[in-house]
Amino acid sequence: MAARASFIAVVALLALVAGAARASNEEGDALYALRQRLTDPNGVLQSWDPTLVNPCTWFHVTCDQASRVVRLDLGNSNISGSIGPELGRLVNLKYLELYRNNLIGDIPQELGNLKNLISLDLYANKLTGGIPKSLSKLNSLRFMRLNNNKLTGSIPREFAKLSNLKVIDLSNNDLCGTIPVDGPFSTFPLQGFENNSRLNGPELQGLVPYDFGC
Ligand SMILES: *[C@@H]1O[C@H](CO)[C@@H](O)[C@H](O)[C@H]1NC(C)=O
Ligand SMILES: *[C@@H]1O[C@H](CO)[C@@H](O)[C@H](O)[C@H]1NC(C)=O
Repeated sequence: MAARASFIAVVALLALVAGAARASNEEGDALYALRQRLTDPNGVLQSWDPTLVNPCTWFHVTCDQASRVVRLDLGNSNISGSIGPELGRLVNLKYLELYRNNLIGDIPQELGNLKNLISLDLYANKLTGGIPKSLSKLNSLRFMRLNNNKLTGSIPREFAKLSNLKVIDLSNNDLCGTIPVDGPFSTFPLQGFENNSRLNGPELQGLVPYDFGC
């Protein structure tokens, strides 16, 4: 009887420990929430099993040695649906590759929480709405490719603070206003802004209101 009681106690304890370990994987939970909001006709997310201790063995997910998610590679994956706010919880992410899919809806402002992000590739989707100002908090960002979507509004002036930005492509959207000239924008080629029918050329310093034409 006592042996049976202690066996039950041990099982209960193990279940509790396993549950705690599982519940503590914030990054796995965030990715699984993304999986649930996406339509995945080609089954690229099939290996995303939320019962595993972490998402590091899932296809298209890369972790560092400390089992923190640093890359998400879902370019060219035929996925559709909206991106959602959960990705903002992947605070160790360096590469967010979601290009050439059928993603719709807004770029979540929560992506501004990804302080370690180096590359934000959302090009060739069907994203709408404005470019979030919060992305100006991405101090490590080197590549921002949002081209070939249906984005509207102006280019946030705060992007001039992105001193590590080397490549920006916002071409083939429906942006308006003018192109900033400060900070890294002083060296970006104009092709990265082409085919936005309501976007005007680089602003004349101090003369043209930034939302001119919006
Ligand atoms: C993408 O998914 C659609 C179904 O939503 C399917 O008809 C199409 O063949 C898929 N394309 C590729 C390249 O797999
Ligand atoms: C702009 O659109 C034209 C015509 O569709 C296309 O030839 C050109 O490559 C586009 N420019 C960029 C930077 O994508």
